[in-house]
Amino acid sequence: MRSSSVILCATGAALAAAGLLLPASPVAARFSSFDPQANEVLNRMTLDEKIGQMTQADHNGLADPADVEKYFLGSVLNGGDSDPKSGNTLADWTAMYLGYQSHALKTRLAIPLLYGVDAVHGHNNVLGAVIFPHNIGLGCTRNPELVERAERAVAEEVRAGGINWVFAPCVTAPQDERWGRTYEGFGESPDVVKSMAAAAVRGFQADDLRNPFSVLACAKHFIGDGGTTWGTGSPIDQGDTRVDEASLRRIHMQGYITAIEAGVGSIMPSYNSWNGQKCSGSHRLLTEILKGELGFEGFLISNWAAIDQLPGDYSSQVAQSINAGMDMAMVPERHARFIAALKAVVADGRVSVARIDDAVRRILRVKFAMGLMAAGWTPQIDPRAKASFGSAEHRAVARECVRQSLVLLKNSRKTLPLAKQIGRIHVAGKSADNLGNQCGGWTIDWQGRSGNVTTGTTILAAMRSAVSKSTRVAFSRDGSGAAGADAGVVVVGETPYAEGKGDRADLALTQEDVDAINRMKSAGIPVVLVVVSGRPVILGDALEKADAVVAAWLPGTEGAGVADVLFGDYKPTGKLSISWPRAMAQIPSHPGDAKYDPLFPYGYGLTY
Ligand code: BGC
Ligand code: BGC
Repeated sequence: MRSSSVILCATGAALAAAGLLLPASPVAARFSSFDPQANEVLNRMTLDEKIGQMTQADHNGLADPADVEKYFLGSVLNGGDSDPKSGNTLADWTAMYLGYQSHALKTRLAIPLLYGVDAVHGHNNVLGAVIFPHNIGLGCTRNPELVERAERAVAEEVRAGGINWVFAPCVTAPQDERWGRTYEGFGESPDVVKSMAAAAVRGFQADDLRNPFSVLACAKHFIGDGGTTWGTGSPIDQGDTRVDEASLRRIHMQGYITAIEAGVGSIMPSYNSWNGQKCSGSHRLLTEILKGELGFEGFLISNWAAIDQLPGDYSSQVAQSINAGMDMAMVPERHARFIAALKAVVADGRVSVARIDDAVRRILRVKFAMGLMAAGWTPQIDPRAKASFGSAEHRAVARECVRQSLVLLKNSRKTLPLAKQIGRIHVAGKSADNLGNQCGGWTIDWQGRSGNVTTGTTILAAMRSAVSKSTRVAFSRDGSGAAGADAGVVVVGETPYAEGKGDRADLALTQEDVDAINRMKSAGIPVVLVVVSGRPVILGDALEKADAVVAAWLPGTEGAGVADVLFGDYKPTGKLSISWPRAMAQIPSHPGDAKYDPLFPYGYGLTY
């Protein structure tokens, strides 16, 4: 447990000594303090240059990278399935990033790009990056200081290839776990979300956005993405959040308040609606509340093609969103269409030049705060950031996150911890030796994938290296051959999914999982059930059949953190950040509800 923090402190100390970790000054940034410089640039910009700054294209959508010059683009992103054309190594990502920046630097004003990726649990699209537990597991650690260290490491891995902006943290407070994005939230309670949101922003942005190890953070998705009502015309993903304003503020706004206090420089308005109106087109939410009342001085980036979902024809959609307060548009496939439409609505007076100037000023403020606007700026990659990518130090931080995120739900007859010297342990289940299942969605691909997707340690491999030489760890996916073992561990749960495709009306274990548990049980050995999933699943009889149950969430590449808990090298400290229901009919249900009677309540977690 100590080793990882010592290593990290050593790194931190080295950076501080080198003058790279600037003294803790709240970036909590008065971004507006950069207005004199931003205005000076703004005054020299043509309308085309301004609208270009407000436009973000996707790498896949840019048939010709020289469009960055032609349209004066302010930003480029890689979506979940948008890898460099040459391959998926850090070198490919670096070359791609540098290529785009070189185009930006050839424009008249040479304004560098903000370059964004969804680093939601590590630099997760890139082969070899350390994959951290998804947020639902991090919420169970109740350890904001650890989350800050984790996002610090993620920021270094992102900067290892030059990229300077992450669409993270997701500060949703998922209220209905049938939603396929539940795991992107730290938990159902605004309390856990608000402390983790601030910690994550501090981790990403560090003390100073000019630091070569910092990335711009983006709190998402504003607001109520986790509060949609499933049914009666509302899907659960991108649906309608039907709550009064007091509940919206109490449940869904808390993470934004703390993220803003921590200095977050960008926020992503959500696909969902609030009481029938799309957030991406709401002046009340974006301008009056977020920028006015909450004092947010950074800029707003739309969600992927979200503007296209507003009512009316395309020019009305663009006018509505920009007038609501959207500052930059994520128009992944059709940047030229957006630019033409925005120019047209400025020309016909539906969007004022003052609104355009406000949007561009906000973007430029942040670019100044990041040091991108310094005279003669060229993209620099610090060799220490590069060396940190996928490093043992970062793997140690992730392993620490894993062991603190595990929640022990049941432990009869002291089944856990397992002895390391025990003869034979039989391991079973589809997720025991499956890195892709451990990582979940948003890993290498948008929706994730089962199998050997990247570099890491499966739970089975970790167990094998943890036991003493005399102990044999056998494995059969279906649980056959377990008879005669001294203990059994069965690792089952969900297979990878992400937004949209992960919405489920039924969260029961699959028949394959139930069969594996039954085979282990019928072998007459003590059975430990490890659940790998992005949300609570309905355990049914499995709870009785298993002697011990551990919720491992989506731990990522560092399976050793799971072995640490199973063998007692780390005594469990994780507490549920989401209620664990007995049956689907109990969903949604939250502490304080009159009929609150889950299988395991929010905050539950045993130890040894
Ligand atoms: C997701 C966002 C993500 C964006 C860019 C959207 O579909 O909802 O969370 O940041 O795509 O990949
Ligand atoms: C992209 C994601 C994006 C999604 C939205 C996918 O093709 O890779 O980043 O969030 O589309 O629909």
